[in-house]
Amino acid sequence: MIGFIKAILPLPIRDRLRPGYRKVEQRIKLSGFWPNPSSWQQKKRILAQVECLKDFYQFASDEFEIIQNEPEIVGLLEFLREKQPRVVGEIGMKSGGNSFLFMQALPSVETMISMDLQLPLENVRKLKYLARPRQNMTFVQGDSSAPQTIARVRTLLAKRQFDFLFIDGDHSYEGVKRDFLNYRSMVRPGGLDCLS
Ligand SMILES: C[S@@+](CC[C@H](N)C(=O)[O-])C[C@H]1O[C@@H](n2cnc3c(N)ncnc32)[C@H](O)[C@@H]1O
Repeated sequence: MIGFIKAILPLPIRDRLRPGYRKVEQRIKLSGFWPNPSSWQQKKRILAQVECLKDFYQFASDEFEIIQNEPEIVGLLEFLREKQPRVVGEIGMKSGGNSFLFMQALPSVETMISMDLQLPLENVRKLKYLARPRQNMTFVQGDSSAPQTIARVRTLLAKRQFDFLFIDGDHSYEGVKRDFLNYRSMVRPGGLDCLS
């Protein structure tokens, strides 16, 4: 099919259609109708046996190329387990290793909202597939400081607020400050912001 389209459409027209095609492809893949690789079933079974934080970290490292340093993130997860956050956000999810840890290593989490300039499509699907029952994961693509991104997150939260927000997007001083100020009203009083 793709070969046929390439054969009949000249390159300049294909270039103009490509962004729209990518958007449609992304929507279909994220809709849940796209078949998941059968190898993920085995990963889900393995994950169901994991309990200790170091093993969650190892899983995140193998499957999602986690960036965080192990002792630091394991220490944070231990701290968060006691706080039992239910609504968690991450600005700058990259390949999703950290979002995976927040979802899997913190069983109290019911809602996770992860943002990035560009979503890692395959990993987004894998994260959704591996999510625990009753956990809801949402992904927002865009600049975290753009008004439409902020509005989208506010809409997704509806009347809720974040119990914990991990800010790990634009690492410049101004970028971190912007994220902190733009999202702080979405963190509940007594909730936690973590600036990475
Ligand atoms: C250090 S990486 C995040 C690593 C991830 N939190 C983890 O622990 O695995 C920073 C990410 O922030 C994203 N980013 C940078 N500026 C951003 C912005 N203004 N809005 C949203 N995401 C941004 C980048 O695309 C990149 O994927």
